[in-house]
Amino acid sequence: MDNKTADIIAAGESRARSLDEESLAWLLSLEDSSDGENELFEAAYRVKCAVIGKKVSIRALIEAGNACAKDCRYCGIRKSNARIERYTMSAEEIYLAAVAAKEAGYASIVIQAGEIESPAHTAKIEEALKAVSALDMGVTLSLGEQEEEVYRRWREAGATRYLLRIETSDPRLYARLHPADHSWQRRAGCLGILSRLGYQVGTGVMCALPGQDAHSLARDILFYVKADADMIGMGPYIPHHDAPVPEAPAFSPDARLHLALRMIAATRLMLHDVNIASTTALEALSPDGRERGILAGANVIMPNITDSASSSKYRLYDGKPFSKGAAGAAESLKCIARRFARLGEKVLFNERGDSLHYAKKSGSNQ
Ligand code: 5AD
Repeated sequence: MDNKTADIIAAGESRARSLDEESLAWLLSLEDSSDGENELFEAAYRVKCAVIGKKVSIRALIEAGNACAKDCRYCGIRKSNARIERYTMSAEEIYLAAVAAKEAGYASIVIQAGEIESPAHTAKIEEALKAVSALDMGVTLSLGEQEEEVYRRWREAGATRYLLRIETSDPRLYARLHPADHSWQRRAGCLGILSRLGYQVGTGVMCALPGQDAHSLARDILFYVKADADMIGMGPYIPHHDAPVPEAPAFSPDARLHLALRMIAATRLMLHDVNIASTTALEALSPDGRERGILAGANVIMPNITDSASSSKYRLYDGKPFSKGAAGAAESLKCIARRFARLGEKVLFNERGDSLHYAKKSGSNQ
């Protein structure tokens, strides 16, 4: 490894938020499987272990519906994809999935669905949240852009965290990947509203998008700093056979996996105390992708407990792993825990695993 790489890694490890765009882009450009890349992963993992511990937090992911008003050009469930069957879970079904999650050992759930803005949808989620609040779990919503009033109602009904990926911090690249009526500014504005309402706020991007380079990704990390994010969820972009966005020629599946792992590691060197997810898209590219994400500095996994008939319709990209459903949730969680135990990592059953960064900000210890 050369001196420049070593110096940047050492600076990031010793002090949070200390790297500039140039240094971050340098780390993101390291060659796959090089000495420097390994050192980067090891340093990010040391930061994760020192600040958060040898622990992995878990959330049960509930894919509550694939109907979507958005038409993101890379996404398999975008509005104009007429080739998928749409489904939507009722408030009762969401509640029952949360009960199954709790029985399996989860203390946190994520309710994710396509982006819908309607009074009926708002009311349904509100009803589900009110029922779920009796279970005393951490509840993350991932339901896209909404009006402030909707975010407020859901917060009051018991949601504590919100995930809204900015997808890319570059408005011009965003404009190339989305139709003209999708607004980067509105999306960024939603993150500010969510923070003000007291949510733990998560954002993130896809890595290896066509037209994205290391500097763009470096600026994505600086965007997380500026947004004061509590949680980050990132994964490699993976083409979908029915989506118009092509594969970037420079990226084989393995190259996309490596870039996404470097992005996790570089983010950890900047943001020592945030929750970073090791996402499903990593697993789609490699059977041990989630473990590799943790070893590159992530600390959260979100196993999918959606019933398999629904989950098979929630195909954001090709090769997305299938869910075994709520019935198998306890068993698959034990299996996951055994796999992480081999790395010396403890999977935190029955613990919410709130963002340390958020706890520090709000001066609470929960
Ligand atoms: N590849 C990888 N991730 C994707 N997402 C949507 N489409 C793809 C794709 N083709 C991600 C987006 C979105 C999240 C729910 O799924 O980042 O925010």
